[in-house]
Amino acid sequence: MDNNKFYVTTPIYYPSGNWHIGHCYTTVVCDALARFNRMLKKDVFFLTGTDEHGQKIEKKASEKGLTPIEFINPLVDGLKEIWKELDVSYDKFIRTTDDYHVKGVQEIFKQLYDKGEIYKSEYEGWYCTPCESFWTESQLKDGKCPDCGRPVQKGKEESYFFRLSKYADRILKLYEDNPEFLQPKSRVNEMVNNFIKPGLQDLCVSRTTIKWGIPVTFDDKHTVYVWVDALTNYITALGYGTDNDELFKKYWPANIQMVGKEIVRFHTIIWPAILMALGIEMPKRVYGHGWLLIGGDKLSKSKGEKIKTEITDPKELVDRYGCDALRYFLLREIPFGNDGVYTNESLLKRINGDLSNDLGNLVSRTTAMINQYFGGILPSPTGYNDLDNEVIALCNSTLDSVKKQIELIDVPTALSEIFKLIQRANKYIDETEPWKISKIPEMRDRLATVMYVLSECIRVSAIILKPFITKAPDKILAFYGINGELENTFDNAYFGVLQGGIKVEKATPIFPRIDVNKEIQEIEKMMNLRHQQQKKEVKKEEKPVEEVKEISIDEFFKTKLIVAVVKTCENVEKSNKLYKLTLDVGDGERTVASGLKNYYKPEELIGKKVILVSNLKPAKLCGILSEGMILCAEKDDKVVLISPEVDMPAGSVVG
Ligand code: MSP
Repeated sequence: MDNNKFYVTTPIYYPSGNWHIGHCYTTVVCDALARFNRMLKKDVFFLTGTDEHGQKIEKKASEKGLTPIEFINPLVDGLKEIWKELDVSYDKFIRTTDDYHVKGVQEIFKQLYDKGEIYKSEYEGWYCTPCESFWTESQLKDGKCPDCGRPVQKGKEESYFFRLSKYADRILKLYEDNPEFLQPKSRVNEMVNNFIKPGLQDLCVSRTTIKWGIPVTFDDKHTVYVWVDALTNYITALGYGTDNDELFKKYWPANIQMVGKEIVRFHTIIWPAILMALGIEMPKRVYGHGWLLIGGDKLSKSKGEKIKTEITDPKELVDRYGCDALRYFLLREIPFGNDGVYTNESLLKRINGDLSNDLGNLVSRTTAMINQYFGGILPSPTGYNDLDNEVIALCNSTLDSVKKQIELIDVPTALSEIFKLIQRANKYIDETEPWKISKIPEMRDRLATVMYVLSECIRVSAIILKPFITKAPDKILAFYGINGELENTFDNAYFGVLQGGIKVEKATPIFPRIDVNKEIQEIEKMMNLRHQQQKKEVKKEEKPVEEVKEISIDEFFKTKLIVAVVKTCENVEKSNKLYKLTLDVGDGERTVASGLKNYYKPEELIGKKVILVSNLKPAKLCGILSEGMILCAEKDDKVVLISPEVDMPAGSVVG
């Protein structure tokens, strides 16, 4: 295996559009790991993308009167926009609607079927639409989805099943033999005790009722279960299952698959079982991180109602505080393997504390002193004492300490190692008191060394910070005239590289201090205003309750109802609701667009006698001129056609 390659993946995101700061966590961590490994001169492939199939999307799109893809496209653009704002340097963005992925999934499904790993049977159980998850009776919690607590629906249908149950022992062995595979360790116990020990059941991997999915090639009334479709993205993105699998050969197995804790079970039970069935190597590591819990939602003092008080929109946060601040907060705030809390205040404190006080001050104090005492020219060092040597040693060991933490995927501790150097350098200023020695002419050499030591601490920490925050390090290095290729690897992240005599600019503030109280008051005022505005908008949208008006018999007789026979039924590709029907109306034929796709298969409609409102003004629906409307009875999610009780010829009048 190529030890110099590094393949890192994020989960692929549901195109929900309501992305908040918590959603950015997985991807920003992966980005830091990708950037770190690039600076180690590894051949990095960083994958992210979107998970676009399934009932949830189908439903949301149809509620908006859109096709799924029309609904999804702007959301995917919105997500890419967030990644751009956050400087996420992915190498590939996969969409599960991409052709190569669809082909890859179909190929994988077929391979599994041909190998006998997938068989046809009947599914009876519970389905949670928001989570796209199947549950057995015993897995439900108080009759509801154990993951999200929402109601589940009972379902029975012909389905294909994957022989997941037979992999239980091999998965346990995988955990035992490879302690690195699933981290942090606590997640192993969770998987073993909550899922594997109680018994793995074969997994239902196809649906006939969900149309918005990848069709099974050898049985196209079935679509592939969304989680199988989604998980395989990690290999289809590399060309697995297509004619060109060069990238797959080069980068698989993944070095790190980063996932939130709620989806660890898919990635460490179902995913390895699929890979085992396909005879593919396991990913090296799956890391199940904790959540960023969004704090806030305080009670409004004046009105006693709950108001969202935290800004959670990533773009708004970047606009307000900058990309570095948000990245730094995300990478620093969630302790290794645990949950962290986000509030406006916690973010502001990080900006002021670490970025402004520690890093910002070190840079502005040092560059200001070099300008004040040495006319903006970096002096050469003139010999080191014990104190200098202690700081130099820390400067030289920081990269190794950070590397160690990154190997453990402990990003917050890696950052704190860099800040140890920054804080040590700040303390060094207090210890060496340059403002005093600058007044003593005999101490000029000492002052020169102090300035040089500080500058090297700044340069080294800026280089090591580059994978984590993407803007400030370059700005800092530019004050020293460094803006070439040298700082793009860690080769120079050691003491003693700078040459005396170079020009040093007086730094402009990189992280201006924020008045926390004032800022929080301002945010609360703004959020209050937004809340009031939203309330007004909701009121405007609330339609007055319509009175059920009585109509006269004459008005009723204006509606002409007749019996019609369905002759043909065509799928309207652009719509996930409509069929195009040709109806025999006795004295000719009519075309009608009817929203029956989710309730009837075409073959169930052909030959059926229906009741048609035949004098409706024709209307264009999805490009079809619809000449009438078919009557149905509707309650909750059920829709059934109305037919004459006994056979009546087409054209018979109803009334
Ligand atoms: N589509 C699935 C993943 C399929 S992977 C084959 C999915 N998508 S998601 O959009 O709901 O989540 C994407 C990532 O965001 C997950 O890793 C999830 O854990 C993460 N987060 C969403 N909210 C989060 C927080 N509040 N905090 C940290 N991460 C969280 O799941």
